[in-house]
Amino acid sequence: MNLILLGAPGAGKGTQAKMISEKYGIPQISTGDMLRDAVAKGTELGRKAKEYMDRGELVPDEVVIGIVKERLQQPDCRKGFILDGFPRTIAQAEALDKMLGDLGMKIDAVINVAVPEEEVVKRIVNRRTCRKCGAVYHLIYNPPKEDNKCDKCGGELYQRDDDREETVRERYRVYRENTEPLIDYYRRKGVLFDVDGTKDIKGVFQEIDEILKKFAD
Ligand code: AP5
Ligand code: MG
Ligand code: ZN
Repeated sequence: MNLILLGAPGAGKGTQAKMISEKYGIPQISTGDMLRDAVAKGTELGRKAKEYMDRGELVPDEVVIGIVKERLQQPDCRKGFILDGFPRTIAQAEALDKMLGDLGMKIDAVINVAVPEEEVVKRIVNRRTCRKCGAVYHLIYNPPKEDNKCDKCGGELYQRDDDREETVRERYRVYRENTEPLIDYYRRKGVLFDVDGTKDIKGVFQEIDEILKKFAD
């Protein structure tokens, strides 16, 4: 089952991707997480990417396309994958079509998680992420049992550098301009499914799971 999760910043892509990954045993491929990993390690790629990320802008297409291409060739992607945060531009979507074609694979479903701007801002400014395992919390909607401590691994929770309100609004603007056109791109291909992302975390997952049942083997 090869999936794309499409949606604005803070729509819940990462949260849902982790739940799908656990239930169906296929890897989550988050370009945002991979880039943050490179930033934390201080690699050349990380240094370049951080400038764009801190401004809320997109990292150049060729950089992200290269990362995804390498990742999709790993053996764990053969039984399926969940792309979270990629593609984000038409150029990335076209590059993805090409690389999947070369690997003899195709996208089964694109899940569009729709959430309005004001809700997205509320979600992101109160998000906390585990430094060790990447688990995602929300101080109000999905709080950790102990303050600042990950339920799953005990790691320290932190706030992402790009999660300040001004940056979130810029990320939303960038989403509207560059990423929203992908909804029509995939609708025309007949693989798009819309989901109401304003429900609670479980409610959104139920809606997604209903769709995925058709594709799971
Ligand atoms: P990325 O890391 O992908 O960030 P994003 O797309 O802005 O999305 P987020 O991770 O902020 O939100 P999410 O949808 O995963 O929501 P989450 O589940 O955490 O990208 C970051 C940056 O990297 C980009 O700005 C860009 O610079 C660069 N980049 C990445 N990919 C790129 C690409 N392909 N091309 C170019 N550049 C790229 O949930 C948010 C919060 O809400 C959490 O606190 C969560 O607990 C809570 N929550 C989730 N669901 C619900 C719900 N249903 N109800 C209530 N609360 C909820
Ligand atoms: Mg995310
Ligand atoms: Zn953790």
